Amino acid sequence: MKNKTIALTAALITAFTITIISCKKEKTTSDTNTTETTVLTPYEILLPTRFPELVIPDDNKPYEERIQLGRELYYDPILSNDGRSCASCHIQSQGFTISEMKYDMPVLPHINLGWYSNFMWDGSKQGTLEDVMQFETRDFFSTDLAKMNSSSKYKALFKKCFGVDNITHKEIGYALAQFTRTLISGDSKYDRYLSGAIDLTPFEKKGMEIFYTEKGDCFHCHTNVMYTDNLFHNTGVDSIYAKEADKGYYNVTKNILDLGKFKTPNLRNVALRTHFMHDGRYTSLDEVVEFYNNGVRKVSNLDPIMTKPGKINGLKLTAEDKAALIAFLKTLTDTTFLNNTALGKPE
Ligand code: HEC
Ligand code: HEC
Repeated sequence: MKNKTIALTAALITAFTITIISCKKEKTTSDTNTTETTVLTPYEILLPTRFPELVIPDDNKPYEERIQLGRELYYDPILSNDGRSCASCHIQSQGFTISEMKYDMPVLPHINLGWYSNFMWDGSKQGTLEDVMQFETRDFFSTDLAKMNSSSKYKALFKKCFGVDNITHKEIGYALAQFTRTLISGDSKYDRYLSGAIDLTPFEKKGMEIFYTEKGDCFHCHTNVMYTDNLFHNTGVDSIYAKEADKGYYNVTKNILDLGKFKTPNLRNVALRTHFMHDGRYTSLDEVVEFYNNGVRKVSNLDPIMTKPGKINGLKLTAEDKAALIAFLKTLTDTTFLNNTALGKPE
């Protein structure tokens, strides 16, 4: 066991020293998005070390002014017709989600969304952040464009940022995409451990080993360092799909093989959540870990990763193993991200 821990730690450190050298920067090259009257300030999104490249659509490269506009909108109830803002369900201090069950499914957190191409538990929205944000304002909030266009503040800001005299859902979505692309979490206790800045406790390391080896086998879907592969899996949480929502990705594709598949949720800041899985059925990490240990249902299209030979009768984790795994999950909490004032409500 000890040797395995050492080997694993060494492997992780070797893999990551290569990229530790410096922060990667996403360069803004295209400057076509300037208006006749104003020149916008290109913004470099600083990526945490080890993060994959961030692909940003050419027609919405980051600009300081657009990010600030997106931030204003994110926190402003003007977008809805009932007093809600995006931030009323996506609360920074809770990891840009909310502990309350607002619907019959937990609110998904806004974390590292810039790397996603599949959105929502069941993948019902796909494409760029610009696409999903246009859906949010046009369909989810039904933002009243007459109201937006009668605001002299927003008239001026959209003119400055997008060069338009008439605000549409497109520019609102683009501005929201600019801000939400900056909601990057990459400074958790675990990230700091990888960079060599701090050490984990032996107990946390034990949990890390379970997570990253066949023993717990979590890393195939909750991949290092993003903690989601952004793909869909049936992990055997249900044996029958009683509610429409339990059918998951099937509701999008109508392919029987997609029954009960859900997008792998991001585990960053997972310890702050209070409802887990697509319907919030578990209310503690103990319950989630016990599900993986001994609760996986052997449905026909169960993900092959869940039925590997050694796992057929559960993971056989001891009480101590389970507690260690949870201790490791807690190292994914990123207080820098949760307290970053640049991501909070504008003054
Ligand atoms: C009343 C609560 C509520 C409000 C307000 C709200 N959301 Fe959400 N949001 C949710 C829920 C619930 C989900 C998960 C829905 C699903 O999976 O079908 C979600 C999911 C999302 C996702 C998908 C995240 C992912 O990982 O796939 C995005 C993007 C999003 N919301 C953006 C926004 C934006 C932008 C606003 C403001 C315009 C907003 N939300 C306002 C409840 C809310
Ligand atoms: C085959 C892919 C896969 C593997 C392996 C896997 N997960 Fe998951 N995980 C998922 C999917 C998909 C969901 C969402 C399922 C649902 O909502 O019904 C999920 C949900 C979770 C959640 C709930 C997160 C939330 O916000 O609701 C936690 C915590 C979690 N997994 C931890 C683990 C741990 C710990 C392991 C290893 C013991 C593991 N996972 C192994 C794919 C996987």
